[in-house]
Amino acid sequence: MAQETLTIALSKGRIFKETLPLLKAAGIEPVDDPETSRKLILDTTRDDVKIVIIRATDVPTYVQYGAADLGVTGKDVLMEHGGEGLYELLDLHIAMCKLMVAGFADKPLPTGTIHVATKFVNCARQYFSSQGRQVEIIKLYGSMELAPIVGLADCIVDVVDTGSTLKANGLVPLEHMFDVSSRMVVNKASMKTRNVAIKAMLKQIESAVKQK
Ligand code: ATP
Ligand code: PRP
Repeated sequence: MAQETLTIALSKGRIFKETLPLLKAAGIEPVDDPETSRKLILDTTRDDVKIVIIRATDVPTYVQYGAADLGVTGKDVLMEHGGEGLYELLDLHIAMCKLMVAGFADKPLPTGTIHVATKFVNCARQYFSSQGRQVEIIKLYGSMELAPIVGLADCIVDVVDTGSTLKANGLVPLEHMFDVSSRMVVNKASMKTRNVAIKAMLKQIESAVKQK
């Protein structure tokens, strides 16, 4: 009987780069390099495993609907998505950063309505409302750091690693929301129907994470 294919959703850039050595431990190496190839479906050195290359923010959606069995996604993206239809299997301890509120060092946030620019609309709303603080969220898709500088917002909610992007734009971290690392997620139905194959792969990846 032909083997059923397991599909893994990955995004280009840091997640792809940092996930690669972990997949290698499970005998999975992509045949093409997504940075140079235009292919969106990559064959791998394992006949039963394919990789799909999608935007980082789309990974939970592909896994939720079963278009991919597995995926690697940041905890920030996962929290924003809500996690419906998928299980978070494993913390890969890669792409580590923090979700933070950032703004000007010398300008306290207003006590009334705070204007917050972010692509993490749900995370920001949940964080401020849990503290009883009023916000107006301004949805952006990138370059969040610009918003307070041009008066579009009082602060931003974004991921921070070294802090150098904030610093370069005259901003400082104000409040730590939560720590972020990338997680392996699996479609709930795939976890039932493909349990043996997924568990075996997971075991190999988990031991590679522990050896890092
Ligand atoms: P999209 O393309 O969908 O807009 P993106 O541009 O945020 O997503 P990446 O920059 O590749 O995609 O980030 C992927 C994940 O890596 C983020 O969700 C976050 O978990 C983590 N991350 C983002 N920025 C950093 C950083 N500077 N240092 C470490 N990890 C980061
Ligand atoms: C992310 C994030 C911040 C920056 C933080 O951008 O949106 O701008 O990293 O990292 P730092 O604290 O080390 O400066 P990224 O590098 O992913 O660029 P992009 O969002 O434009 O893809």
